[in-house]
Amino acid sequence: MECNVIPYLLNKFGNKLKIWSAACSTGDEPYSLVMLLSKSMPLSRIKIIATDIDKQVLEKAKLGLYNVKSLQGLPPAYVTKYFREINSNTYQILDSVKACVEFKQHDLLKDAYPSQCDLIVCRNVLIYFTEDAKDDIYKKFNASLKKDGILFVGSTEQIIQPQNLQFATYKSFFYKKV
Ligand SMILES: C[S@@+](CC[C@H](N)C(=O)[O-])C[C@H]1O[C@@H](n2cnc3c(N)ncnc32)[C@H](O)[C@@H]1O
Repeated sequence: MECNVIPYLLNKFGNKLKIWSAACSTGDEPYSLVMLLSKSMPLSRIKIIATDIDKQVLEKAKLGLYNVKSLQGLPPAYVTKYFREINSNTYQILDSVKACVEFKQHDLLKDAYPSQCDLIVCRNVLIYFTEDAKDDIYKKFNASLKKDGILFVGSTEQIIQPQNLQFATYKSFFYKKV
């Protein structure tokens, strides 16, 4: 995620942000968000709701074990700071980072959505849904956000006419609730 969205959110909503990582799979997104936010605030102030429909991936996410290859995109300083080495192939995210993330099972098609969010991150899942389902989910994301809150979607999931869904393009892949 582009870093200047974080200063925008902090400036707009203060330093207690409500962030939802929807369809988070094995936790890469919420943990990356914690690392990004920790540049601007102490871990003790970071709280992210991370959801997925799949209980098994959520269990993996809670364990926070990652193959060393999957960490190659991270700056080495982050690996040193936020992970402990289990063996030469495996690293585990620190408990202090895990404590910032609340993992919950949630079906985007059926369950009630969190409210008053400042940022929603939802990448690489809506591509699998029908146009009607996508529309419905975008409307629910909009209702879940505070005014001026941001929705971040995947690079293949651009909203074609955001104004029809009460969003305005903030920058590529980022939409602001209007
Ligand atoms: C391709 S993964 C994307 C994971 C992550 N967002 C990323 O970009 O790396 C899609 C995820 O969506 C979840 N998913 C599929 N249908 C869902 C639904 N109806 N509600 C919530 N999550 C769902 C899957 O369990 C899976 O973890």
